Amino acid sequence: MTFSFCAKLPNCCNIYPPGIPTNNLTRKFISHVILSDQRKRRISTRRPSPIRSYPKTVVEPLHVIILMCHEYQKDDFKISTNPALLDVDVIHAFLSRSYWARGIPRDLVIKSLDNSLCFGLYYQNRQIGFARVITDYTTQAYLCDVFILETYQGQGLGRWLIECIATCPDLRGIRHLMLATADAQEFYRKIGFSELAVPENFMEKLYYRPWFKPDEVDH
Ligand SMILES: CC(C)(COP(=O)(O)OP(=O)(O)OC[C@H]1O[C@@H](n2cnc3c(N)ncnc32)[C@H](O)[C@@H]1OP(=O)(O)O)[C@@H](O)C(=O)NCCC(=O)NCCS
Repeated sequence: MTFSFCAKLPNCCNIYPPGIPTNNLTRKFISHVILSDQRKRRISTRRPSPIRSYPKTVVEPLHVIILMCHEYQKDDFKISTNPALLDVDVIHAFLSRSYWARGIPRDLVIKSLDNSLCFGLYYQNRQIGFARVITDYTTQAYLCDVFILETYQGQGLGRWLIECIATCPDLRGIRHLMLATADAQEFYRKIGFSELAVPENFMEKLYYRPWFKPDEVDH
């Protein structure tokens, strides 16, 4: 497993995911990002005054997001949480034909990727699988949008993807990893998932999705 850092500006004011241990390297990296960003953002203004005018330096609020990416390698296959590697075309093409998100617009897919912990599966650096986790990194996580492209199914890659997610350090300490599936219960059961222990303790509220096309499902 290897770790790398990405900086995204100006999306967030926290280290992301929250609670990651910061060592000297991360602190050095964060201060480097902050300093270089402050340099870029420093602008000169003149305050209009009838008596005197002062050149004034204004530093805009700084927001930094530090992503700690995880990577797992098996032969020519790689799983990575680096959002910069995600191929939106592949993800949107699959999801917009899936039974659970049929017709989803591309901009909604992008927004969902931006706000989730995403796992891309790559073969020789081409994306062939995906899964998304919605989480607070502390108590709860919800697994969704799981797929392996058809030509790569049945080789154990789906199992590997879910196992990497279930043991990902970012999710250490959470209480629940939940998911919903219409027909892959057996797949998840083989990786340690089970039906809700007390289903009557759970409730849901469904919302109307104007873009959803339930009648034209491929898979
Ligand atoms: C479901 C999916 C992710 C599984 O990925 P995969 O790489 O084909 O699965 P694996 O090869 O790792 O299979 C692991 C085991 O689960 C079984 N399995 C795979 N898909 C299954 C399914 N849909 N239902 C029941 N069992 C399944 C396999 O037979 C295998 O069993 P084994 O270990 O006894 O041989 C993949 O088939 C897929 O993308 N399907 C379409 C999208 C989808 O349904 N996503 C899940 C939505 S919740």
